[in-house]
Amino acid sequence: MIRCENLSFSYDKKKNFIKDLNININIGKITTILGPNGSGKSTLLSLLSCYNKPDNGSVYLDDINLSNIKTKEIAKKIATVHQENESPEDISVETLISYGRTPHNKNNKAEDENIINWAIKSTSLEEIRNEKVMSLSGGQRQRAFIAMALAQKTEVLFLDEPTTYLDIYHQIEILEMIKLLNEKYNLTIIMVLHDINQAIKYSDNIIIMKEGKIVEEGKPCDIINDKTIKDVYKVEGIICNVEEEMYFVPKSAC
Ligand SMILES: Nc1ncnc2c1ncn2[C@@H]1O[C@H](COP(=O)(O)OP(=O)(O)O)[C@@H](O)[C@H]1O
Ligand SMILES: [Mg+2]
Repeated sequence: MIRCENLSFSYDKKKNFIKDLNININIGKITTILGPNGSGKSTLLSLLSCYNKPDNGSVYLDDINLSNIKTKEIAKKIATVHQENESPEDISVETLISYGRTPHNKNNKAEDENIINWAIKSTSLEEIRNEKVMSLSGGQRQRAFIAMALAQKTEVLFLDEPTTYLDIYHQIEILEMIKLLNEKYNLTIIMVLHDINQAIKYSDNIIIMKEGKIVEEGKPCDIINDKTIKDVYKVEGIICNVEEEMYFVPKSAC
């Protein structure tokens, strides 16, 4: 369980943007954070992944208070793929992925190689492992950064808008890959998405945010309804079922 208690966080111009936030997130599941632009999705992700330090409160992973352990130890438990990924120029895909081994630093070349190969295979990057990261397409690039995070061999993977700059084919490709990683390796996924229907389809649980607060959390079928979406996004629409799957169909902004 990832658990946070009474979490508070301020930006300079936004005192207590996050205030007394409590949440439990199940290990081994896919949890998606939804909410309008500026609602605090990335801020919550950055607090849960220990990228930002809360002013108050703590984040626990399996009852370990993450604020009590060193960054390097946290990086063995938690990996994050940020929304904007910077790659140093002129490095190969494989070199980028090898950076994921940095927190382990055990000088066990054989183990590192095995894990890097596993990360490359899990993200279907075998054929382009020697290409330069700068030369990749959007979808390949995202897979390379996910592979670097996988090479950290953590229990938990955070992803901030992993599909945002991708066309629909590559969005689905990434989401299917994330689902497979969750199912095959029991990897806990916590991600931010914009697409409500993709969140419904790929998540065990959804957290909906508005103005720095969690307004709903739970299984997609329990919390996604036209009223909540209207309240949170100011969009009118209907929920319908197609081939036993639930979809939100937007009609108009209000
Ligand atoms: N580094 C920052 N400094 C100051 N304000 C920030 C910073 N990052 C985000 N904010 C503000 O905090 C609010 C929430 O931002 P964010 O968590 O990025 O929202 P979301 O990811 O849901 O779009 C926004 O109003 C944003 O302008
Ligand atoms: Mg964001």
